[in-house]
Amino acid sequence: MKIFLDTADIEEIRMAARWGVLDGVTTNPSLYAKVGGSYDDVLRQICDITSGPVSAEVVAEHADGMLTEGRHFAKLAPNIVVKVPMSEEGLEAISRFAEEGIKTNCTLIFTANQGLLAAKAGASILSPFIGRLDDINEEGMIVVRELVAIVELHDIETEVLTASVRHPRHVTEAALAGSHIATLPFKVLQQMVHHPLTDKGIVTFRQDWEKARAAAASISEKAAARSN
Ligand code: E4P
Repeated sequence: MKIFLDTADIEEIRMAARWGVLDGVTTNPSLYAKVGGSYDDVLRQICDITSGPVSAEVVAEHADGMLTEGRHFAKLAPNIVVKVPMSEEGLEAISRFAEEGIKTNCTLIFTANQGLLAAKAGASILSPFIGRLDDINEEGMIVVRELVAIVELHDIETEVLTASVRHPRHVTEAALAGSHIATLPFKVLQQMVHHPLTDKGIVTFRQDWEKARAAAASISEKAAARSN
């Protein structure tokens, strides 16, 4: 499963890239609002860090406006994927982007049927939002499982991207469900790295190493003193 970072924060993206685990990035207007500046500049900087897909979201209400925004994003870098919300206008825009060879990520998917329609319209990525479904007492992962099964059963050329991830368990479940991609807040990526026993084990090994080195140094000092 590919791992994307769900952020517009350049330092977080740089760090994940340094760890060698970054396959792409998703942004949205809310994530962009946290960093500010020019959205185009932010997108260009992200595309300089990763050659993986970088989602840039349109905000226009109608298909023509989405097309204008998306065509502009697609010119910023070759790895830009235009993120289009699930709606009647969004489906039209996805279908027209597909005709133009512009890749799209259909966002705000909450049912397998919405994902099926987005795939039929030509979306290269389908983004079911699992955390927001969990938040309203539904089981978001069911949509991921259903969509992965539909895509595989009908051999549809698209990828399921598990979005709105809230905690590391979501990532494990997405991987087990066969999700092609999961996009994670940086905090969740960090949580995946750590385990209390791992962190404690590293400290203990270092302390034992230092003790052993000190003991060895003391034995050599005593041996040198005896030989003098
Ligand atoms: C990703 O593409 C989505 O925009 C994002 O995962 C939404 O996450 P949220 O529900 O935490 O806002």
